[in-house]
Amino acid sequence: MLRLSSPLANVTDPPVAIAKNWIANRTFEPEYPLIDVSQAVPGIAPADALRSHMSELAGNPASARYAPALGVIETRTAIANSLADRHLSVDNVMVTAGCNQAFCLAVGALCEPGDEVIVPVPWYFNHDMWLQASGLRTVALPVLPEHGMLPDVEQCATLITSATRAIVLVTPNNPCGVEYPADLIRSFFDLARSHNVALILDETYKDFRSATTPAHDLFGIADWAETLVHLFSFSKVFSLAGYRIGSLTAAPHVLRSAVKLADCQTIAAATLSQHAVTFALANLESWVNERRVEMLTRVDAFRTEMAAAPEFEIVSSGAFFAYVRHPFSDSAAIVAKRLADEHNVLCLPGSSFGPHQQPFLRLAFGNIADHEMASLAERLRRFANDS
Ligand SMILES: Cc1ncc(COP(=O)(O)O)c(C=O)c1O
Repeated sequence: MLRLSSPLANVTDPPVAIAKNWIANRTFEPEYPLIDVSQAVPGIAPADALRSHMSELAGNPASARYAPALGVIETRTAIANSLADRHLSVDNVMVTAGCNQAFCLAVGALCEPGDEVIVPVPWYFNHDMWLQASGLRTVALPVLPEHGMLPDVEQCATLITSATRAIVLVTPNNPCGVEYPADLIRSFFDLARSHNVALILDETYKDFRSATTPAHDLFGIADWAETLVHLFSFSKVFSLAGYRIGSLTAAPHVLRSAVKLADCQTIAAATLSQHAVTFALANLESWVNERRVEMLTRVDAFRTEMAAAPEFEIVSSGAFFAYVRHPFSDSAAIVAKRLADEHNVLCLPGSSFGPHQQPFLRLAFGNIADHEMASLAERLRRFANDS
């Protein structure tokens, strides 16, 4: 048997795939269909105008060529403009094959084996998986229900050592759904800056915030690029998950290192996807706002319907997610699997999101219709009462 890389062998198998396996080969009766709240993926198709544009792009032989290493210049410009109008230029933007690649490239550019990266827990599992696979130490910053699932900057300060290279924040948060207040994001930026470590800020869900005020003003800080590394995904906002497109925004020297890695992997993000994003950023503002309102309504409907299932406590919710405390003493994986087996509800166990998360389940609402919320709550209630 071939020997495997030991850091990678110790990394968890992909959590969504583990959950999907629980229902592989099962068929569901129409009167008790599957409710799939496992993956944070939009169920809705891309906007009609975007799909037509992509068909045209597919017919153009130029789409089959490699894009420049940092990305198509029009796409980089459009992304720079979409993030901020101050202190941000096209030189700060690299187009990536999704936000996960942006994270991997950022970490690859900033860290080496043995370094430490501080991540609030519960965390987005792929962040921890990549840090482990890279021989880095994920330092957990516990985030608690009694603090509204918000990370504490003073507690974070106590975790910084000479090996710390970065602090990672995801806002709105996956798995918690919480939107971090602008002053909290700013205080993490100040902390990172004062220790000369990077603040890696993943804003994949920024277009699904309830507030319409800016999420933060970090790009208004003249020397932001000395500290901030910004990640974004077009998977959720434009329903382009399968087209693998995101961005990495940082100081040009960070991008220069990132490009060395990307050149060995994807070479560049897909050309067609980049042109699609240029089009979408220019034309889909109102479509995006409709999706935002739709998701907010869906999460509200969940909160209302869950009054029928008080055994499950909503610890936090927002954007695409609800993080709930289940009423059982079993491990989260056992609870989640039973929920799938017995009530046809597929969700992810809290244990996928880091240590001490056994009491929790994550529900993701991208893929579910508003009218399913009542049956979701009803099934959770029945599950609690039947057990
Ligand atoms: C916080 C966060 N970052 C990144 C990603 C991955 O995005 P992409 O599809 O652009 O790689 C996700 C997807 O679930 C996510 O939740």
